[in-house]
Amino acid sequence: MAHHALHETARALVAEGKGILAADESTGTIKKRFDSIGLESTEESRRAYRDLLFTTPGVEEYISGVILYDETIRQSSSDGTPFPELLASKGIIPGIKVDEGAKPLARAEGETVTEGLDGLRTRLEEYRGLGARFAKWRGVYSISETKPSEYCIWTNAHALARYAALCQEAGIVPIVEPEVLQDGTHTIERSEFVTSRVLAAVYTELFDQRVDVAGTLLKPNMVLSGYDASNRAGVDKVAEQSLHVYYKHVPAAVPGVVFLSGGQSDEDATAHLNAMNARGPHPWELSFSYGRALQAPALKAWGGKPENVEAGQRAYYHRAKMNSAARTGMYAPEMEREAVPV
Ligand code: 13P
Repeated sequence: MAHHALHETARALVAEGKGILAADESTGTIKKRFDSIGLESTEESRRAYRDLLFTTPGVEEYISGVILYDETIRQSSSDGTPFPELLASKGIIPGIKVDEGAKPLARAEGETVTEGLDGLRTRLEEYRGLGARFAKWRGVYSISETKPSEYCIWTNAHALARYAALCQEAGIVPIVEPEVLQDGTHTIERSEFVTSRVLAAVYTELFDQRVDVAGTLLKPNMVLSGYDASNRAGVDKVAEQSLHVYYKHVPAAVPGVVFLSGGQSDEDATAHLNAMNARGPHPWELSFSYGRALQAPALKAWGGKPENVEAGQRAYYHRAKMNSAARTGMYAPEMEREAVPV
């Protein structure tokens, strides 16, 4: 019964034409985003920005779930409706980021391990009471000639699986997010190798720790050439190398793979997702759980000004619609010019 509910929630998050908005920036990260538009980060400005996103008319056609941050799940819309209640009333599933960030990994220069397991069982219970039905935990790995180490790969995989098992016990669908950062000059082949090692470790740990993968979603990086590499791979190659890795490592029982955008431009993130879906059908749904690639144009259009709320909502709605088209391989760059009413 409990397992059945987890499966249903996981499948609902990757319903046809829909994907997830990651709006779970920590207070430090959202400050960086607000700095880019010259806006001071206060509890109220953070609330106003999330309110803009969550009240965008009609976006529920394309958005199945929203990942919230601890502060946000406790905040309310301008009319006093708590955010989780507002989202649920639109048919959008509230989720919550539960990790406490990537911290230096002992005796591993330049590598990190994600913390947040202590007390997690209690926190999950509280978040469920606040309306969360899914969660996210992000492990981070960087690529260099010597990194990531096997030590870093297995330590993060172990933590991801401990988190996932605790979530399922609490009736919450875990999004398992191992992010191999694509900064650097590496080739796409090196990205493929590293992503492959990471996913192999993650699925070994999930299996060993009795996680029911049919009640999980995977949130991986796409396989890309390093952002500073010469001769970066184009859209077709990114789609092929990425699919190659997931076919090798992601069990068919996993209902969906929901990508992070990881610093790609918003249009690149859409084009890559589209190219992968155009090569379908696949054993799992291929969808999005973008932060920056869904929000960047909205943040810019809003600029922190109340009179620009509608413009911000239009920009967000447009990106959600473009990514929805990419869910079926029906996106074309010409669609970017469409005027979008809000
Ligand atoms: P980006 O799409 O901006 O990478 O954010 C997704 C996310 O949730 C990272 O943890």
